[in-house]
Amino acid sequence: MKTRITILCENLVGRLVGSGEHGFSAFIETDQGNYLFDTGSGRSIVPNSLTLDKDLKSIRKIFLSHGHYDHTGGLPEVLKLKGKVDVHAHPHVFLDRIAVFKEEDREIKRFIGIRYKKRYLESLGANFVFNTDFTEVEKGLFLTGEVPRQTNFEKPDPRLFSEMDGAMTNDLFLDDQSLILDTDKGIVLILGCAHSGMINIINHVINKMGKDKFHAILGGTHLDFLTPEQLEESIKSLKRMEIGKIGVSHCTGMKAAFRLQQEFGDRFFYGWVGSVLEV
Ligand SMILES: [Fe+2]
Ligand SMILES: [Fe+2]
Repeated sequence: MKTRITILCENLVGRLVGSGEHGFSAFIETDQGNYLFDTGSGRSIVPNSLTLDKDLKSIRKIFLSHGHYDHTGGLPEVLKLKGKVDVHAHPHVFLDRIAVFKEEDREIKRFIGIRYKKRYLESLGANFVFNTDFTEVEKGLFLTGEVPRQTNFEKPDPRLFSEMDGAMTNDLFLDDQSLILDTDKGIVLILGCAHSGMINIINHVINKMGKDKFHAILGGTHLDFLTPEQLEESIKSLKRMEIGKIGVSHCTGMKAAFRLQQEFGDRFFYGWVGSVLEV
């Protein structure tokens, strides 16, 4: 499968085109059609698609990595342009979610879940296709489904909560899933926020695909929120793997991005708005 991936929404802008926002979205062009992975927070997806000359009306499917607002916020704007389209996601994408921050002595709670009801999105054309397991969604394109938590160093983010059965509990992120493209040059793996742990995700992909050669890994890694010890463990694991290019975005953070650049050298790039990976 020939493919071109363009970062549409991201926190940073690298080519003096488009706008940055807290969020992530990637536009995927293949010889069998175009796809959208995540939709950013909502403000930049349409203007950035016009600036980068990516036609949102051409997409065959939308994939959602998880239910946070910064990945699902652009759904209404995309649907208003596209109309009827399959939206693949885990059923927990609609959970209510909050983040709890400490600012000086004050505790601040913010709603960070999906801002729209399923019915509203359906009225704009969304046809939700839910999966919990690893699934081939198109020829050569796979969603990871739920990722088993196996490493001992990738811990849940203690600031994030979701509502399950009427109670707010630590968010398990069963809906966190990533997109896999099976190309001639190896696997291309696109992460949303990697809430299930970047190494857990990669191990799950190796296990399900029966292949361990990654042409590229891109997207949000959530490495920004790990302790220094956890970050070093993750880097040690990454270095043991066969990864051609590593293009991080969004929740990776500068500290982790700099560490990855030190370790991966020319194989590292920052995936800001307008970055393109051609395979
Ligand atoms: Fe995110
Ligand atoms: Fe997230």
